[in-house]
Amino acid sequence: MNIQPPNFQANSLENYWMPFTANRDFKSDPRLVVKSEGVYCWDHKGGQIIDGSSGLFCVAAGHGRREIADAVHAALMTNDYTAPFGLGHPLAFSLAQKITEITPDPLNHIFFGNSGSEAIDTALKICMAYHRAKGEGQRTRFVSRERAYHGVNIGGVSLSGMVKNRETFSGVMPNVVCMRHTWDAENRFVRGQPENGAELAEDLQRFVETYGGSTIAACFVEPVAGSTGVLVPPIGYLERLREICDANGIVLVFDEVICGFGRLGTPFAAQAFGVTPDLMTMAKALTNGCQPMGAVAVSDEIHDTLMNASPDAAIEFFHGYTYSGHPAACAAGLATQQIYQDENLFQRAADLSGYFLDTIFDLEDLPVVTGIRGYGMLAGLDVALKDAPGKRGSQIQKKLFWNGLHIKFTGDAAIIAPPLVVEKAQIDDMCKILRDTLSEEAL
Ligand SMILES: Cc1ncc(COP(=O)(O)O)c(C=O)c1O
Repeated sequence: MNIQPPNFQANSLENYWMPFTANRDFKSDPRLVVKSEGVYCWDHKGGQIIDGSSGLFCVAAGHGRREIADAVHAALMTNDYTAPFGLGHPLAFSLAQKITEITPDPLNHIFFGNSGSEAIDTALKICMAYHRAKGEGQRTRFVSRERAYHGVNIGGVSLSGMVKNRETFSGVMPNVVCMRHTWDAENRFVRGQPENGAELAEDLQRFVETYGGSTIAACFVEPVAGSTGVLVPPIGYLERLREICDANGIVLVFDEVICGFGRLGTPFAAQAFGVTPDLMTMAKALTNGCQPMGAVAVSDEIHDTLMNASPDAAIEFFHGYTYSGHPAACAAGLATQQIYQDENLFQRAADLSGYFLDTIFDLEDLPVVTGIRGYGMLAGLDVALKDAPGKRGSQIQKKLFWNGLHIKFTGDAAIIAPPLVVEKAQIDDMCKILRDTLSEEAL
C-alpha cells in the first residue's frame, strides 16, 4: 500500500479542537489515519492498523464500501438537498420503510436526525409529547442508569451516568434519577448474559414506589451498556424493566446506537434479548459511518397517539433538524442496509461470535486483565488501574495503535467491536497484538 504522508507541520494541528481527545497530548505525537479499507486503516507513517472497534462502532460492513460512496454521489448529483419541513424526497421514505423491515413490530415509524445524541434528544421529546397528548403531562421524571452513555447533547448528558461527562455541565435537565449499573465483581469474566443481577431492575420499581409511577415519563437504557465497557444485561433484567414499565405506563427506550445493525448477531438488541421497547434510538452503523445520521424508531401506539392528538392539517410534533433525512445520508443508509442484507451480515455476526469471544476470553490469563465481558461481536476488557483512572487505558490505547490495532478505550476499559466482515485470521491477528501489548504491562 503506497501511502503518501500528509503535508502537515506541528503547528498546523492547532486550529482543530479535537472532540473527546487529550488535545495537547495528541498534538505532541499525532496519530493520523490517512486511508482505510476493509478492516484496516493506515497511519500517516504508512503503518497498517486493524480497526478493532469499527471506528467508533460504525463501520459494520468494513471500510471503503464503493456501493455506499456511489449511492451518496448519485444522490448528491440527482437531488442534493430538499427542505425536510413540509417537503419530502423519495430516499427518506424508502430508508424509513427499509429500517422498519428489521425493527421489531410495532416499532414501525422512523424519525431522522444526524447523530446518536440527536436521536436521544428526539426520543426524550417524543416521550414528553406523547404523555402530554394523552393528558399525562405530569410525567416529568426520567429514569436512566449509572454508567450510562447517551451522547453529549444536554438531553443525553442529563441521562448520563458517567461522572466525567456531566460534572462540568450544570445546566442539565432536572428530574432524572439513575438506577444502579449492572457491573458486578462476581461477573468479571462472564461471557454472555450473567445469571445474577436481574434484581437490579427492582430499582425502577423503587422509583415507582418513591416518586409515583404516574410521574415517570420514561426509562432509558442501553440494552448492552457499550461505552462504559460492555455490560451485558443479566438474564431477566430487561424483561423485568419491561414489566414495570407496562404496569405503570412508563415508556421504555432502548438506546441501540451501538447494539443496532447486527452487532449482537440480530438486527437490534431487542431481538437478541427478546424484549421490545416502545422507542429505539439508532445511529452509527445505520449508514456504516459513511454519513452522519441518527434515528428513532417509534411504536404504533406512540406515533398514532401523537398523530390523533392534533387538529387536521396541523403539525403534530414540533421538532426536526435542517438535515433530518438528508438525501446523502438516506442514500448511504439504503446502500448500507442493502449490503447487510446481501451479505447476510447479521447472521454472519451471530455465527462468528463464538470464535470472536473465545479468542478474546483467551486473554483472561494476562495479569493486567481484570475483567472480560462480551456478547455477539462486542466485548469489553478491563485493565488494572495504574496511578489514576484511565491513565493505563490511554497509554495502552496509544501503544496498540503503533503496534497495529485501533481499539476504543473508555477509561481503563477496552471496547472491542471489529467490523462484522472480519475474518477469523484477522481476529487472531487482533488478539495477538492485544496479547503482546498487554503482556508488557507491569503490575
Ligand atoms: C449508546 C449511545 N448513545 C448515544 C451515543 C451518541 O451518539 P453520537 O456520538 O452519534 O452523538 C453513543 C455514542 O457512542 C452511544 O454509544
